[in-house]
Amino acid sequence: MPLLEPGSPSDLVRATAAAFTERFGRPPTVLGRAPGRVNLIGEHTDYNRGLVLPVALPHATWVAVAPREDGALNLSSTQQDAPWTGTLDTLEPGSISGWAAYAAGVLWALREAGLDVPGLDLHVHSTVPLGAGLSSSAALECAVGAAVVGLLGLDLDGRHGEEPLRDLLVRAGIRAETEVAGAPTGGMDQTIAVHAQAGSALLIDFDDDSRRPLDLDLEGRVLLVTDTRVSHELTDGGYASRRADCEAAAQALGVDSLRHASLDAVEGLTDERVRRRARHIVTEVARVERTVAALEARDFAEVARCFLDSHTSMREDFEISTEELDTAVGVAVEAGALAARMTGGGFGGSSVAIVPEERLAAVVRAIDAAFALRSYPAPDHLVVEPAAGASLETDGLSRA
Ligand code: GLA
Repeated sequence: MPLLEPGSPSDLVRATAAAFTERFGRPPTVLGRAPGRVNLIGEHTDYNRGLVLPVALPHATWVAVAPREDGALNLSSTQQDAPWTGTLDTLEPGSISGWAAYAAGVLWALREAGLDVPGLDLHVHSTVPLGAGLSSSAALECAVGAAVVGLLGLDLDGRHGEEPLRDLLVRAGIRAETEVAGAPTGGMDQTIAVHAQAGSALLIDFDDDSRRPLDLDLEGRVLLVTDTRVSHELTDGGYASRRADCEAAAQALGVDSLRHASLDAVEGLTDERVRRRARHIVTEVARVERTVAALEARDFAEVARCFLDSHTSMREDFEISTEELDTAVGVAVEAGALAARMTGGGFGGSSVAIVPEERLAAVVRAIDAAFALRSYPAPDHLVVEPAAGASLETDGLSRA
């Protein structure tokens, strides 16, 4: 069964270091790594101070760096044609576009946060599918942050002043994405990319920024992610307009965020579109709570109901699904998945399903056949073992 493999971490460390050396004519000093993510449930709730339940992918991004004396910044990537060159002095929002905005944006944000970022050469190598709604951008941001922390000789699990460095990396990634790359996203992706624990999902509450790892023992079932390969862009307006509708709803209800609105109050909103958007958020937060309780009670039938209700809510109330996502979800369940829903920002991207191990091949085959029948692009499939968050890869490097 063809799956998109994450690759072996030690091979990827070696490949990233080798690509760096070929490009810059010297070996890197340190490598940072951060994973992509799949969200189990809780979509568009992060910027409404709600709950989310993401998992880190074994597919990750590696970033190799070495310092420079002259203040220059040379950024390249195995996955991108165009390298980017600039200087520390001219780094600011508006001065960078394209993929490099996510990487150089973090360097800017780390300097703003008070870290003494030097000029550097930097090379990126990733197995996170791009544009698939699996947070390749947050993986890049957080891998750059981890690499810089390593370059400065700091401990990723230490502090900068009062602030844990991991929290500082989350903040820098969010600033890079919202202020430099111009994607008005909410913070879930950077939080899981930095704070994930292997084997667990992470319940994040954006009302008080608390986090709780949740052991993800699916008892003989696997997490299947299907990338519909319909491109997903968070900077093209659909995401921002959903966010604006949520803010309009909160304002009309006189609350600081939809987290603090009741369903009754939402049903009284006069603007029909804004009402549907707000209904998705309020019901989705409740579904995250129900899903967590159900996972803890090993009540997989209830998890399945939550996933399907979430998908319906995103299709009808939030209007962020696509025909390809609806097909992937519907066919997965028909072919034996226990539960399925679209995941991530929407307008394309991926679905996530919980599939009994013995049905995995049949579910993958059924989705492929349904896509072929409808002349959709052939999808990619990933099986996800929850991975750990950002790390420094100095050990692998010495073997490179
Ligand atoms: C994108 C954003 C996140 C979140 C999701 C939707 O991944 O980056 O902040 O809003 O969409 O849940």
